[in-house]
Order: sequence, then structure tokens, then C-alpha cells
Amino acid sequence: RRAAVCSAAAAGDAGSTLHLFSPSKVNLFLRIVRRREDGYHDLASLFHVIDLGDDMGFEELAGTATADALTCNMEGVPTDESNLVIKALNLFRRKTGRTQRFRVSLHKRVPHGAGLGGGSANAATALWAANELTGRPASDEDLLEWSGEIGSDISVFFSNGAAYCTGRGEVVEDVAPPLPLGTHMLLVKPPVGLSTPEIFKALDLNRRSTADPRELLARLAAEGATQELAVNDLEQPAFDRLPALLELKQRLQAEGSGFSSVFMTGSGSTIVCMGSDDVPAFLQEPQYADMFVSPTRLITRQPGEWYAAPAPRA
Ligand code: C5P
Repeated sequence: RRAAVCSAAAAGDAGSTLHLFSPSKVNLFLRIVRRREDGYHDLASLFHVIDLGDDMGFEELAGTATADALTCNMEGVPTDESNLVIKALNLFRRKTGRTQRFRVSLHKRVPHGAGLGGGSANAATALWAANELTGRPASDEDLLEWSGEIGSDISVFFSNGAAYCTGRGEVVEDVAPPLPLGTHMLLVKPPVGLSTPEIFKALDLNRRSTADPRELLARLAAEGATQELAVNDLEQPAFDRLPALLELKQRLQAEGSGFSSVFMTGSGSTIVCMGSDDVPAFLQEPQYADMFVSPTRLITRQPGEWYAAPAPRA
């Protein structure tokens, strides 16, 4: 069951809880441009927000509170200052001079170490919520700009939902959604996650694609999702580390029906299947019993509004 998004009007009521949907994202293509002096990588990627997401509740604490209070349903998720949600709230206070503390409840569905940006979306949603609950001292543009200070793929959630991202990922250019929003998709993730810094470290720049990212963007909009356009330079280090992930991708390509393309998102370990959400029969085999399998759709947001939770699917 997914909670509905409360209207911003509810934010003014003392003690009321602001319920927000915290979405996730896929990278429809991901090219690594160069390794930088500061240890990061410049990339060129088409990010798209999707409707797999978490539910978050935000409530302002009494003025005497000296810390935010974060609770989470998922085991292993830190609820201290190492959580991006708390980092986002600290960033918000530092930038705006506001002093309010918040009670945050986080109901997670998006897996960790998945390349889906679930934690980054939680941080973006927390920035949006803090701004709503404190009378909107910041603009959308402020939130987008500030978010780059605590992570590379938080800013994209302040786009319209489809964005061509460069720099570390924090330079965001809104684009017209290149694919129909109703496009059916299936996400498949093995229980083992991948660590983003480790995948970047293991990347062999000599084994990258040579595709021009602007051309990928133009062709995606013109031709739709095809296997040729589903470039992700981080598949090489991810598949080196986890050969079973390459095998999974190949089986999804060979044995799935109706998938126009099959590719890894971000630094993995989720494999995205475009064009259908039919679960291939081979995923019933015992070795795949622990797979995370979820249908999803591409979504966008209206200016001035946050992402809406999807309507329950029949
Ligand atoms: O920015 P974020 O904290 O999400 O990045 C996590 C790690 O992933 C970085 O410390 C870096 O090792 C790697 N990274 C990178 N280039 C990027 C984004 C992330 O090398 N563009």
C-alpha cells in the first residue's frame, strides 16, 4: 500500500505530518567521460525518475528538540548522522539559518546498493519536506544547487524527472521525457548489492564505450529504447566483480519476452528491462529465489509539486 501525497497546505498545521513519496531513478544510459583530480568521475548520463519508491513522513519537533529523530522499517539502514536524510536536514538548516528539527519516518521499498538512487531520493525528499514545513525559504533551484554538496545523484530529483546530467552527476539539464511515461519496465536485482566507490575504482577507462552521449540522447528520443543505446560504462567493473550479474543480464535478454533493452542502472546491481513487466519464467528457478523483482514506470513531476505515489496497480 502506498500513502498518498499530502497537499502542501497541510504543512502549516502544527503537529501535522507531511507524507511524501520518495521515488528512485534509473540511468537510461551512463557514459563515463573522465577521471578527475578529486577522485570523482565526470559523467554524461540520462537519468529518469521511476515510480518504485519509499514512503516518508515528516513532522516538526518542538522547539526544545536538539536532534532530528529518524526511524526506518528496513534493517541495517543507519538512522544517525551518517544517513543522507540527516545530512540533508543539516544542510537545509545551514543554508537557510532555520533551526527546526524533524521527526522523520522512512518506510523503504527501494533496495540498497542497487544503482536506483534510493538513499539520494530520501535526501532530496527531506530537503523538499523541510522547505515545505518551514514556509519555503528556498526555491527549487536553491535545493537543486545545495543538494550537490552531499551527494552526486540527489540533484536529479529536483529536475522534472527526466534529466541529462553531467559533472559528477550534479549538473542537471531538464529534457523532454524521451520515452512514453507508460512504458512498462521490470527491475531485477540479486540480493548482493554493489558499492559505488568500489565500482568506480575498478572501472578500466580503456574498456569504455565510445558512444557520444548527446547522440545517445537524440537517438533514444527518435528510435525508442534499443539494446544498442542502453550503454552503461559501469557494467564492465560490475560484471568483472560479479560474473553472475552478466549471466543474469544475458538470460533476461535471451529468455525475457517483450524487452526492448536490458541493462544495468548506475553502479548496479539492478538490471533494468524496458518495454514489458512480464516476469520471465526462469526467475522461478531456485537459484533466483532471493531476487528483488519489481515492475515500475517512468515518472515526471509538475513544477512546484513533489513526485506523486503511483496508483495501485491491478
Ligand atoms: O557523490 P556520492 O557520495 O554519491 O559518490 C560516492 C562515491 O562514488 C564517490 O566517493 C566516488 O568514489 C564515486 N563517484 C565517482 N564519480 C561520480 C560519482 C561518484 O567517482 N561522478
